[in-house]
Amino acid sequence: MYKALYRKWRPRKFDDVIGQNHITDVLKNEVNTGRISHAYLFVGSRGIGKTTCAKILSRAVNCQNPVNGNPCEQCEICKSTESETELDIVEIDAASNNGVENIRDMREELVYTPTKCKYRVYIVDEVHMLSTGAFNAFLKTLEEPPAHVIFILATTESHKLPATIVSRCQKFVFHRVSNEDICARLKYICEQEKIEIEDDALNVIAQASDGGMRDALSILDQCFNINKSQKITKEIVKNILGITGQDVIKNLCDIIFSGNSTESLEFLENIHKQSVNLLKFCEDLIKYFRDIMIEIITKKNKNLILEDILYSLEILQETHRNINFGNDRKISLEIAIIKLCSRFSGKNKSENKIQVKKEPEEPQENIIKNTSEIDISNINTELTDNLTEWRDILTEMQKDSSLKSLCMSLKNSQAFKHENYILIKSTNSMAFELLRKAECRNSLKKIIHKILGKAYNIGPYNSENLSKTNNNNILDSIISKAKLHNILEEN
Ligand SMILES: Nc1ncnc2c1ncn2[C@@H]1O[C@H](COP(=O)(O)OP(=O)(O)O)[C@@H](O)[C@H]1O
Ligand SMILES: [Mg+2]
Ligand SMILES: [Zn+2]
Repeated sequence: MYKALYRKWRPRKFDDVIGQNHITDVLKNEVNTGRISHAYLFVGSRGIGKTTCAKILSRAVNCQNPVNGNPCEQCEICKSTESETELDIVEIDAASNNGVENIRDMREELVYTPTKCKYRVYIVDEVHMLSTGAFNAFLKTLEEPPAHVIFILATTESHKLPATIVSRCQKFVFHRVSNEDICARLKYICEQEKIEIEDDALNVIAQASDGGMRDALSILDQCFNINKSQKITKEIVKNILGITGQDVIKNLCDIIFSGNSTESLEFLENIHKQSVNLLKFCEDLIKYFRDIMIEIITKKNKNLILEDILYSLEILQETHRNINFGNDRKISLEIAIIKLCSRFSGKNKSENKIQVKKEPEEPQENIIKNTSEIDISNINTELTDNLTEWRDILTEMQKDSSLKSLCMSLKNSQAFKHENYILIKSTNSMAFELLRKAECRNSLKKIIHKILGKAYNIGPYNSENLSKTNNNNILDSIISKAKLHNILEEN
């Protein structure tokens, strides 16, 4: 069976742990001198070696012939701990065993001396998840631990631990692993696994994994599994990571500005699937909003409101902090995005937009395709007139809070006039989606009427037909298409 690289390459000795020398040196020394604590607290972000070091320490303190503080990997104890059959080393996932009864069960066991080992070691992962009752029960144990027991507590969120617990532990803060260290480790593993990879590709992986060794190995795994015989290039990695830069950010923000939380969440889901580093993504979002803030201040952007952008920045910065504290990246970002969407949507906030499921539709896709294929130079200019008053119409729209989303989505749009139709040209599919709603369409029509002094119908501008065909049926075909797509109402 295929074993994920990060599991296969879990270091077995302190000396193989990368980038945590400030910790492994101290632990080796404690093992060497026999000055072992009864409670350790390992703190730090995900995938940087906390569990790994806890496992190594649990072996080293029990090993029959430790080598310079490392487990020997030869003795009976080392072998039984390696195969995870050693009963005296107990791993508890506090996320799923967080009740007071779980801690009571553990306390009852404590009175018995270990069967084979010198120490019974409890590794309590995600210890911040314990309930208050469980913490209290645990505290009693930590106050007077039996001589043959060692606790190793690990957490990504040490600020959630009661101070009384923390003060009874020897605390170690794990660091994010540097890009150089990650590259070197990946290179070593690739050599051992006979995986061909470019140095540039290693760099891209290191950057994307943001100091997390486990993330780095997972990315490597994905790249390798796409095509096992192929050399891994920078392009392959970028593809896997979906690093397409600003476009992705901009597209998501356009959806956010249109207030569509369903679509935004789907977008995030897609990004997540491509194993984009969501912390980095959050940082990029912050940068993007910051740029907009500057644009607004310098009056280069008149479509967005400074207060909304400041609010968004606050939300995103809070999200960034939460992620840094180790909260789930995806959930944190989802919450942020929903908040932003509801801020930007002109709709009543109590309306639960997430549950509004779009009807199945592929026509919309056609429209996006068509509208983005417009090439003005090809257009028979006699057929349509550029609508010079369009800016005025958009400005007027801004005053109507219920048209905020539409207005936002029409930011870079143009409009053309033909007979009694105003045809809108926009590459933002949201605009057309919004225009499918009668209320939205009617409000826009009112404004058009007001500005142009005459009633018009609205439709999508489609150059594909305009440029390719050259007869008077062109408009008819656009119009019938639009009717089909429910954008244009029947006359
Ligand atoms: N400092 C490190 N040095 C070498 N490999 C590491 C390091 N940190 C994590 N890894 C790799 O990532 C995997 C998961 O690490 P783990 O120790 O479980 O992380 P956590 O800090 O979340 O407990 C390990 O099996 C190992 O392959
Ligand atoms: Mg862990
Ligand atoms: Zn040993």
